[in-house]
Parts: sequence; structure tokens; C-alpha cells
Amino acid sequence: MIKNICCIGAGYVGGPTMAVIAQKNPQIKITVVDANPKRIEAWNGPLEKLPIYEPGLVEVVEQTRDINLFFSTNIPKAIEEAQIIFMAVNTPTKTEGEGAGMAADLRYIETCAKDIAKYSKTDKIVVEKSTVPIRTAEKIKEILNENSSNIHYEILSNPEFLAEGTAISDMKSPDRVLIGGDESESGQKAVQALVEIYANWISKEKILTTNVWSSELAKLASNAMLAQRISSINSLSALCEKTGANIDELSKAIGMDHRIGPHFLKASVGFGGSCFQKDILNLVYLCRYYGLEEVAEYWHQVVKINDYQKDRFAHKIIDHFKNDLNKIKILILGWAFKANTNDIRESPAIFVTKCLLERGAIIEIYDPKVESKEIYKEAEKWDYFNESLRDKFTVKTHQNHNIESYDSVVLLTDWEIFKTFNYGNNTIFDGRYFLKNN
Ligand code: NAD
Ligand code: UGA
Repeated sequence: MIKNICCIGAGYVGGPTMAVIAQKNPQIKITVVDANPKRIEAWNGPLEKLPIYEPGLVEVVEQTRDINLFFSTNIPKAIEEAQIIFMAVNTPTKTEGEGAGMAADLRYIETCAKDIAKYSKTDKIVVEKSTVPIRTAEKIKEILNENSSNIHYEILSNPEFLAEGTAISDMKSPDRVLIGGDESESGQKAVQALVEIYANWISKEKILTTNVWSSELAKLASNAMLAQRISSINSLSALCEKTGANIDELSKAIGMDHRIGPHFLKASVGFGGSCFQKDILNLVYLCRYYGLEEVAEYWHQVVKINDYQKDRFAHKIIDHFKNDLNKIKILILGWAFKANTNDIRESPAIFVTKCLLERGAIIEIYDPKVESKEIYKEAEKWDYFNESLRDKFTVKTHQNHNIESYDSVVLLTDWEIFKTFNYGNNTIFDGRYFLKNN
């Protein structure tokens, strides 16, 4: 009987997933730990200032926090007490060394494994919740066994499929829960222990158990398939613009075929978020590693079309102003990578803003949920963000704009409030194909 869980990583996945597991399993004590004390402080702080904005999250945290859900920086204690340890740490694209720019950086996973080996005194079930390359479980097991003795570890793969903005409802009623485990008796026992936790609110038909490798690969493949649909429709948006076809009408017509389905066919300025690009690049890297160059190239094209779409959109604005954006004042609406989240990782807004700023535009930004300091922090990373450009870059904290003072408005996040926004008589660049139908 599982009574104690630890989750390493209190981010967009660790926080919301553990909050829902805690709500649905009041008999289990769950401790979410993180190496970043500020994040833990925020999780333990006022509900209106949780580190993540996610609809429905506050209510779940309110019902569970300090009852059976705890946020802590005491990693050794949480590991020692837990029977199951989830790894929900970040797995970004490597920036240096072999595979830089393509492969997943597993250093945080490796640190977790070392910590687990260091602080465990009893047998553990270790769960990969982070998205990892296929065969990572093998590496984790190696680290665990090399760094500890007389402790039995079972490694499970339990990838997360939630999307930001709908994380809580996705967790409460998922399409499926995937659990990959070793085929040995102890492996299957560990799988069943995890199945029982989910079965407290999810019907067993939706809990799919597989071998570890299928589960690890299914996560990368699912993200690749979703992103591929967006790149497919975005590529067709370029053809629509040349020919007079309407991309929304095209999406509808295509999606009504039940074999294709209507989801993920909304054309846009390009997909953003911390996962699609990094997971596809990781898939491309893996295919190359296994000598499958054609397969690698096929998936790489999904990312290339996404870059093309972002660039194409930015150039529409640049072309409109005949390549001279000096003294052109632009209002950017939306900085998050999609609506209903405060996450800005890989947001197309960042790419577009950089292009416009580089060409001399004066930029003002408004997003209803992203904090100004996060937007400024992002801009500080840009090489050319020197004093003169800084003066041309302002974040607005309210939506009462003198709309006529702008030369154009660029809509980059599909926040509902932007549907009824007062655009005045401005030229609007709608990166979400959002306003035409409204
Ligand atoms: P995140 O960056 O929001 O959170 C990761 C957290 O892990 C950070 O707070 C970091 O401080 C902490 N951390 C890193 N190494 C640590 C260590 N050794 N010990 C303690 N804490 C450590 O990342 P995220 O968005 O939650 O993503 C986590 C994983 O889940 C990634 O692999 C991602 O691909 C995957 N995933 C993300 C989403 C999503 O919507 N964001 C959805 C599905 C899967
Ligand atoms: C995505 C997947 O949907 C999740 O299943 C997965 O768990 C997650 O990645 C992950 O592994 O991190 P997320 O990135 O949070 O979730 O959000 P999505 O709704 O998938 O949107 C991603 C991007 O694609 C956004 O920029 C969104 O605006 C864009 N998008 C989405 C489109 O441009 N068109 C669409 O039709 C759908």
C-alpha cells in the first residue's frame, strides 16, 4: 500500500500533477521538492501568487496544501520517506557538448538519480514523469545501482500528456494514462502500485500499461504528431494566402473528415511552449543516432516549417512598413505561448518582438497574466538589448491604451479578452487567425 510519494521538480508538471494526485488520494502524503527555494516559497505562499497560473489550480492546492500535499526544499528527507519518487525535472535541449541544439539535456535527471541513490534507505519505485529520450530508464538504473547498494529500484515510465492552460482538467479526465514498466514480476508489481493510484479517479480502460521503451517513445511521438498537424496546417496557410483560399475554412473542411478530426488544425504564428520543439529535435537526434536519416529529416521538417511560419509572420509586418520600422510604434498583445498560461518559454511573441525591435520599432507589450519582470528578464537575455533598444521596449501592466497612438497592433496570444479589445482604426496583424471570425 502506497502511503508516501515524493516528486522532484515543482514546475509546470510537478506542481499541478501532484496537486491532483493528492486531491484524489487523501490517504497518501505527497511532498513536492525543488532545488529552487524561491519556487517552493511561492508554492507555500498566498494562493493568488502561486508560481504557475493554471485555471482550477488554486482550488486544488487550497484543498490539499498542508493536508496531504507539501512543498519543501528538504530533498533528502522527502526521498528517504517516499515509496514512490516521481522525477518531474526539466529536460531542455542541450546547449553544449555532443548533441548540442538537438539532444535532451539529462543533467537534471542524472542529479535526481544521484540524490535518490544517496538518500534512499529502503526500496523505491522511481517514476520518469519528465519527457526523456528512449532508453533513459536504463541510464537511471545504472546511476542508481552504481551509487547505492542493497536497495532495489524499479524504474517506471509515466509520461505526462497535460497541456498548459488545461492542466487540471487534463489531469482530472485524461484521454489515457500511460505506464511503462519492466516485464519482470517486481516490475509488474510496481506498475500495479502506480495503476492503483490513478485508478482512484480514472477508469482502468484508460490506464494503458506497456513496456518501458514504448512508453518513453510514445511521449516523444505524441508531441511530434501534434506539432506535425500544426506545421501541416501552417504550411497550407502560406498557400491559402497566395491563392485566395481561407485557412479557417480549409481547417474546417479537412477536420470534418472523422479520420482526420478537428483538433490541432488551427493555423497560427507557429507553435511555442517548452516542449514541442525540444521533443521533436530530440526525436530527430535519436533517429540520427540509430542511423535513420530519412526519418530524422521527416520530423525535422516540422520544426523547420514552424521557424518558417514565425519568420513569415514577422516579415509581413516588416514588409507592410516597407522595411523601415524607425519610429514605428507597435503594440504587442500577448506574450505567453498560448492562452491561459503565464508560461513564455519559446513563445512566438519573443521571436516576433526581437525581429521588430532589431529593425528599429518602438515596442509596447501587454499580456494579462505574464508578469512584467518576466518579460524584461527575457529581453535582458538578448545580445543587442543595449541602452538604446531598452528605451524602445516597454511592458504595460494595464489594458487602457491610447490605441490611436500606435501604428499597428500585433496579436500574438489567443487570450479571450483580445476578442473584445478596442483596436481603434489600427492595422492589426493577427498571429492567431483570431479576429476574422469574430
Ligand atoms: P519546469 O522547468 O517548470 O520545472 C522543473 C523544476 O525542476 C524546476 O523548478 C527546477 O528547479 C527543478 N529541478 C531541476 N533539477 C532539479 C533537481 N535535481 N532537484 C530538485 N529540483 C530540480 O519544467 P516543466 O515544464 O514542469 O517540465 C518538466 C518535465 O515535464 C520536462 O521533461 C517536460 O518536457 C515535461 N512535460 C512538460 C509539460 C508542460 O506542460 N510544461 C507537459 C508534459 C511534459
Ligand atoms: C503540448 C501537448 O499538447 C501536451 O499533450 C504535452 O503534454 C505538452 O505539449 C508537453 O509535453 O509539454 P502545450 O505545449 O502545453 O502542450 O500546449 P498546446 O495546446 O499543445 O499548444 C502548443 C502550441 O501550439 C501553442 O503555442 C499553441 O498556441 C499552438 N497551437 C496549438 C496552434 O498553433 N494550433 C493548434 O491547433 C494548437
